[in-house]
Amino acid sequence: MNKIFLTGGTGMLGTYVTSTLNDYGYEAIVADRSRFDLANHKAIYDYVKEARPDVILHFAAETDVDLCEREPARAGICNHLATEQIAKAAQACGAWLLYISSSNVFGAEGKISYNELDIPQPTNYYGRSKLNGEDAVRANCPDNHLILRAGWMIGGGPGKDHKFVGKIIQQIKDGATELKAVSDRLGSLTSAGQLSDFIIKAMANRQTGTYHFASHGTISRFDIARAIGEILKFKGSIMPVESSRFPLSAPRPFSEGIQSIYLPSLSESCIPGYWKDDLARYVASFQG
Ligand SMILES: NC(=O)c1ccc[n+]([C@@H]2O[C@H](COP(=O)([O-])OP(=O)(O)OC[C@H]3O[C@@H](n4cnc5c(N)ncnc54)[C@H](OP(=O)(O)O)[C@@H]3O)[C@@H](O)[C@H]2O)c1
Repeated sequence: MNKIFLTGGTGMLGTYVTSTLNDYGYEAIVADRSRFDLANHKAIYDYVKEARPDVILHFAAETDVDLCEREPARAGICNHLATEQIAKAAQACGAWLLYISSSNVFGAEGKISYNELDIPQPTNYYGRSKLNGEDAVRANCPDNHLILRAGWMIGGGPGKDHKFVGKIIQQIKDGATELKAVSDRLGSLTSAGQLSDFIIKAMANRQTGTYHFASHGTISRFDIARAIGEILKFKGSIMPVESSRFPLSAPRPFSEGIQSIYLPSLSESCIPGYWKDDLARYVASFQG
């Protein structure tokens, strides 16, 4: 039986994965926050070594992109150096390690969409710290890791999704007549539910390498809002606005869209589809 050690169990993705693991009858040690702090590296290494897992699912991260920009040291400590310790502990235990990276590792090149053959060039500290986390995994657990780069993650569902999609759905339900969404920044969607299903399968097969995991299509938040409006038969107007209307600490690239060359060769099931279909499935979970 696999001994699974999971970090970030309270996060969006961690919540899906812990529940999917339960559905499949796996038991996981979910890192106890009182013993697991991304800033306390010695304790992280000792905790993982003591648990002696066969599998490590590392989801914990400092995910606040603007906070990372204001406090780059925190980004480096939590997303890079903590991951390095986890990778070292994985190697010491002979465990398979999964690390979730981000489409934020791309953007400076100014392309519309990036595949696995593109060389990452982040535009902000969050992206750099996640990229350094990737490199730490490759250097310290070289033969037994899987890195999945996710796009704008959607998940949580009714009452729990306080991110962009959840907010748009809520505004429509609250009777808004006009919605605004940024049209000059692009990315790709990743369904946390789909990613969770894929992780369980990849874990069972001990898949290795670096893959992009996102629905097909590079889109703006305006495109997403319009698609939600169509699904929910919204009668009001949806206005495109420029990102300069919402100044943020961290620069966002023109596009962090990702696509995968290699994912289809890895698996025929549990892989993302067209973005509108994957979004529609998620929005449907808010109804009924
Ligand atoms: N969300 C996205 O759009 C997105 C996109 C691409 C990649 N990713 C990556 O996917 C992974 C999961 O993201 P997510 O959206 O599920 O994250 P999330 O909802 O923001 O949750 C972050 C998790 O990390 C834990 N954490 C944060 N700071 C910590 C610290 N100092 N010590 C220990 N644990 C800490 C949190 O625990 P507490 O709740 O106890 O603080 C929480 O469980 C991350 O590696 C992220 O970089 C996310």
